[in-house]
Amino acid sequence: MAPRPKLPPRARKNALRQLLLLIECPYKPMWEGYAEHGPLFRVKLLGQPEWTIVGDPELVRLLFKMSADEAHGDSNALRAFLGPETILFKNGEDHRRARRVLTPPFKHQRLGVYAGTMIEKMDRRLEALRPGERVTVQSLVVDVSLATIMECIFGVVDEARSRRLTRLFSEWMHTVQHPAFLFASMALGGEPVRVAVRALAERSRARYRPDDPPLPKNPVARLAEVVREIDAILFDEIARARAEADDSREDVLAMLVRARYEDGSPLTDDDVYDQLVTFLVGGHETTSMTMSWVVYFLLRHPAWWRAVKEEADALLGDRAPGFDDAQRVPITTAVIEEAMRLRPVAANVPRVLTQPLAYGGYEMPAGTRVFPSPSVLHFREDLWPDPHRFDPTRFLEKKASPFEYLPFGGGSRSCLGKPFAMLQMRLLTLRLVQRAELELAPDCDPKPAALGILTGPSDGVPIVVRKVRSLPTNEDADLLGESSASS
Ligand code: HEM
Repeated sequence: MAPRPKLPPRARKNALRQLLLLIECPYKPMWEGYAEHGPLFRVKLLGQPEWTIVGDPELVRLLFKMSADEAHGDSNALRAFLGPETILFKNGEDHRRARRVLTPPFKHQRLGVYAGTMIEKMDRRLEALRPGERVTVQSLVVDVSLATIMECIFGVVDEARSRRLTRLFSEWMHTVQHPAFLFASMALGGEPVRVAVRALAERSRARYRPDDPPLPKNPVARLAEVVREIDAILFDEIARARAEADDSREDVLAMLVRARYEDGSPLTDDDVYDQLVTFLVGGHETTSMTMSWVVYFLLRHPAWWRAVKEEADALLGDRAPGFDDAQRVPITTAVIEEAMRLRPVAANVPRVLTQPLAYGGYEMPAGTRVFPSPSVLHFREDLWPDPHRFDPTRFLEKKASPFEYLPFGGGSRSCLGKPFAMLQMRLLTLRLVQRAELELAPDCDPKPAALGILTGPSDGVPIVVRKVRSLPTNEDADLLGESSASS
């Protein structure tokens, strides 16, 4: 009889206690496993298949170098609410094909056109703040990032429509992240739940309600209504983008309808729809949770707030930052990077092996869920001395290895929106220190918490507004430009 493969060691706590530990803090099962066994171990949580956690940069390198055929993604938790065409569910050649058409709109050099919108949405939100007002950073950044996505990604420029769509999506996200919905999806399987919701929503009855009426109280009727109206608006926007398929539009939707696969075929409407919703789901909470930690650390460490403000003042004076400025702010960037090291929104980066892998005397059979783990790698004392201390100088002194620092994942499935997210976070941080004086609310005490499949601040980081300075906005600068041109 062939000897049984030697699997990596298994963390001691049983599946229920591991789940309780994860609820207490999503990084903790990995911290404990690493302390018990070092950088390669297995962990079993109640209701989950077993995970093999990887905190060894050499093995992360091997996994990230694997093609999309050798290591698949593992996004089962999202099957209840994302459509079948989303890039997240694709593997092998289908995934490569999707990446080829979806990457160009997010390429670094394309993003210059979005910087102005990002600042404009931030300025509007800041201007609505009143001294003494209490607000969470997370809700503030969600507002800004949803408004930005509506314009830069979905190409919705009509204000009423953008507001209605934002409201519908907020409602939708709230429902699909509700524990009852997540439980139903786990018990019944994500796909049947999605099909049931779609059947209730009946696309033929879909219509946009410009008068912004209240939504039904019954949660099932409300979800059906929300999905129906989102369909109406998005398919209408897709049709509009196809009708205007010249080069004048710069939003991501317009680029997707112009894109062609290698065989010359365009993306279908369902394909475009599923990718748009993926960008929204993948793009706004990740950004708002990360920004909440950025602001939290800046307010907890005022010397860093001052350092970022000095960087902004020296570069910009009173002017709003633009795309080129965002490439010239090492201190701001290091603060964001350090916040993502200490509080990665993805506690692990899931992969499923499609063939056996031998490493370090262990064997992992095909089907193993191997998770390169920011929860382990970002806190290794040998890689980051005094790892729990907030210290952005780490990122000023050297460039982090992509196999030791992975807030955006890595390899062939790494985050497509990283350049967009980094640009937005740099601009928002600069604008915030330029214009706002804030303090943490007395009860502000954010702990890393499992929020849906992400890890974010338990309380959203409540702050109190002391002052919002009025500075010339981009709109003012445009008006000035127009009047001096006409005089
Ligand atoms: C701070 C903000 C963000 C963080 C921390 C983040 C993090 C991540 C992570 C950890 C992954 C998984 C990578 C892997 O499996 O290796 C991912 C994938 C992805 N992200 Fe982001 N993300 C952010 C913002 C965005 C934005 C703004 C967008 C789009 C507008 C976006 C779109 C995507 C997409 C489409 C994927 C799937 C890529 C694939 O499967 O090939 N993300 N992101």
